[in-house]
Amino acid sequence: MASLFDEYRDSYGQAVEGSIRFSGLGHDFFLKAKADLLRRLVIDRGLDEGGSGVRALDIGCGVGSLHRHLEGAFASLDGCDVSKESILRARRSNPGVDYSVCTSAALPYDEGTFDLVFASCVLHHVSPNAWHDFAREIRRVLRPGGVACIIEHNPWNPLTRLAVLRCPFDKDAVLLRAAMTEALFRETGFGEIQSEHFLLLPRSGRLARKLERSLAALPLGAQYACSARA
Ligand SMILES: C[S@@+](CC[C@H](N)C(=O)[O-])C[C@H]1O[C@@H](n2cnc3c(N)ncnc32)[C@H](O)[C@@H]1O
Repeated sequence: MASLFDEYRDSYGQAVEGSIRFSGLGHDFFLKAKADLLRRLVIDRGLDEGGSGVRALDIGCGVGSLHRHLEGAFASLDGCDVSKESILRARRSNPGVDYSVCTSAALPYDEGTFDLVFASCVLHHVSPNAWHDFAREIRRVLRPGGVACIIEHNPWNPLTRLAVLRCPFDKDAVLLRAAMTEALFRETGFGEIQSEHFLLLPRSGRLARKLERSLAALPLGAQYACSARA
């Protein structure tokens, strides 16, 4: 079945750039902040205590824009998406990543395959009545003790609302607050659930990141990351 994102296989980056142009920041600024957060999550959650490296999965990876910022972060990185055309494009851009096309209901991986599973700006494209199945699938493919991380738009942030309004593929987006993502994890059997808001300041220096982290509990940043242990 064709996916909405098939038609953005060559223009995904441009569409995002167009929706955030008013901020004066480029798409890479946002991607780098997410990649840095995921690298930090590996350390904070002790995911590589054995030292053999982290096996990571990016669900809804699209054309793989985030992956060039994650080089060297994991022992292995898989990406999957319901959009076949996006996956073809991602494969060409990132030969070091293993990509698969998935259906919305089931992920093409065995139980307990990954240490870290993340989904960035995907859940708001999934129908709310499928959110629990989506989270259950994440839990199934995580090893016990593995960590899930859902990165989403923060609906309390007015600039995020404006970007969503301007984004051509966000017309049907259903935004969810961090508390809703936390509840989703709780209801599907995850533990150690925590959220942090980020992308508050238009800077990526050490001081800016430190300040952002000290305010992460408040729903101020453009996006949030909700992570939880399987
Ligand atoms: C806004 S894009 C985000 C792409 C990428 N994660 C990023 O942050 O740049 C949303 C992606 O989620 C994919 N998607 C939507 N529902 C999905 C599902 N149930 N399973 C896997 N991918 C899905 C879409 O095809 C699209 O590529």
